[in-house]
Amino acid sequence: MFYFEETRLTMTEKFKKPPLRLQVTTLWDYPSQHYGDAEQGDQNYKGATPSYIIWNLLQRYSKRKHLVVDPMCGSGTTLDVARDIERRALGYDIEPSRPDIFRADARNLPLEDEKADFVFIDPPYSTHIQYSDNPRCIGKLDAGTPAYCEAMEKVIAEIFRILRPDRYAALYVSDSFVKGTAFYPIGFELFSILRKYFTPADIISVVRHNRTLKMGNYRKAAEEENFFLRGFNYLFIMYKPPKAKKEKSRMEK
Ligand SMILES: C[S@@+](CC[C@H](N)C(=O)[O-])C[C@H]1O[C@@H](n2cnc3c(N)ncnc32)[C@H](O)[C@@H]1O
Repeated sequence: MFYFEETRLTMTEKFKKPPLRLQVTTLWDYPSQHYGDAEQGDQNYKGATPSYIIWNLLQRYSKRKHLVVDPMCGSGTTLDVARDIERRALGYDIEPSRPDIFRADARNLPLEDEKADFVFIDPPYSTHIQYSDNPRCIGKLDAGTPAYCEAMEKVIAEIFRILRPDRYAALYVSDSFVKGTAFYPIGFELFSILRKYFTPADIISVVRHNRTLKMGNYRKAAEEENFFLRGFNYLFIMYKPPKAKKEKSRMEK
């Protein structure tokens, strides 16, 4: 089930960089963090999600007045995009960056079961970014240790609990490569956890255009030391089937 909404021309014209329109393939390419003249979230927040991604997801998988939840809200990009297009929005973070984000651990959200119509999450990818000094920050857990996936499984179970049946959730993540140490296929690890709870709806590859990729010294190191810089993120779109269907199919077996 997809929910398409018309994007009025006047609105499209307003947004310059790049045009704000529905993506139709599984390869998304977003050169800029924000759409339009306003900012969604904070581009100075390290690890902020490009707002185009959230806009595209909400257009397809949510309706007006639906409740959109982000359990790791960071600079609040999800809240700003959701409100822009008349969704209700709830954001949590272990270390909130603004007053409309509630302090909570994504492994234990203060929200009743099956309240959210759509959940978006962009978790820490191992220890690359220091988000805060909070010891409960999952960004302090090295993806090379079982602790990272154990923590993320609790987050994913919580997303499943708060999501209404017959609704979608999306998780945006990159693999992790630490030069001279190891490659951690975080995307595959998290996808296999997601599959324990949800039905896969689709997998999108989002091309990253970060400044690091363009810096000559990184390029040189990648060539000379024989490794690859991260060029894309996974966007896993997952579906929570309706309960009735699940029970019916079990009875039919
Ligand atoms: C990649 S950032 C999210 C970026 C956000 N989507 C944005 O556009 O600004 C990951 C966030 O997860 C938060 N976080 C880490 N561990 C958490 C936990 N246990 N519970 C809730 N939030 C957590 C961090 O504080 C950080 O803000």
